[in-house]
Amino acid sequence: MRRLRQSEKIRNLVAETRLHPDQFILPIFFDENIDKVKTTGSMPGVKTFPLSGYDKIASDIQDSGVNSVLVFGVPAHKDAVGSGAYARDGVVQKAIEGIKENSDMLVIADLCLCEYTDHGHCGVLDKDGCVINDDTLELYAKTAVSQADAGADIIAPSGMMDGQIAAIRAALDDAGHKNVPIMAYSAKFYSAYYGPFRDVACSAPGKGNRAGYQMQCGNRREAMREIELDIAEGADMIMVKPAGPYLDIIREAADRFDMPLAAYQVSGEYAMIKAAAANGWIDEERVMMESLLGIKRAGADMIITYFAEEAARML
Ligand code: PBG
Ligand code: ZN
Repeated sequence: MRRLRQSEKIRNLVAETRLHPDQFILPIFFDENIDKVKTTGSMPGVKTFPLSGYDKIASDIQDSGVNSVLVFGVPAHKDAVGSGAYARDGVVQKAIEGIKENSDMLVIADLCLCEYTDHGHCGVLDKDGCVINDDTLELYAKTAVSQADAGADIIAPSGMMDGQIAAIRAALDDAGHKNVPIMAYSAKFYSAYYGPFRDVACSAPGKGNRAGYQMQCGNRREAMREIELDIAEGADMIMVKPAGPYLDIIREAADRFDMPLAAYQVSGEYAMIKAAAANGWIDEERVMMESLLGIKRAGADMIITYFAEEAARML
């Protein structure tokens, strides 16, 4: 076997898996409450931008070779029904418009209510604090249309409500956005790896948790059913999230479904690598690349990752 490992050129020739910046998606955050770029302790290197910041980030990020961003908003006001998520002049709508005007970046809009609700849940609550599925769908539909109106190229619903893809597809079609694809967060697990994201997006639930709508971590067959349903409802792309601890789910989805497959390397996966590297315990660049290569090898076509810009510059 070592004959094919003797030089870098031979190793490159027989390499089975390659990473390319075209397949990276960088999550980015816009906060209505700030006027200067902000950083968050648990996510070193991840910046939150003020609404005036898009011109620079667009050029900086695109300069690295990354062509797609996943946009999140942090609103100035939160309420019980997350009205900031579907406001015409909401933070994410303005951010989408700003990025489209100042770059030719592909803009994917994360669609959820948890950054916009005062209770921090991904939908509206009944009086016992349980998320009401179908009432939430109406708000997702409005949010999708407002994001597409603002110029989003792709809508990515992340709330894990039943029927969300069908509701959003119908609403987009009715509003004249037949050509806007949906990237479905199909198999999104109830994961402890989302912690740092909630610091950045200010979206931790006040009471309770998301176990009533996100998937149980040990359930593989159920993940396949979730994906199947999303495809039947009209998803154009499917996603597994998180990525690193769920490589078996990624592989099985890649083998079973003839659909573009995304994997989300989430905030906790990123933070752990950054923290160990900051302590000098691991080689950051090599572990970053290895973590991405593993996700790709498992079968992901696209990787949503906070490392996108760094990894693209290395490539
Ligand atoms: C919103 C959303 C979350 C993430 C992406 N979209 C958080 C959550 O479900 O609490 C997590 C991303 C990450 O951890 O990097 N529903
Ligand atoms: Zn949410």
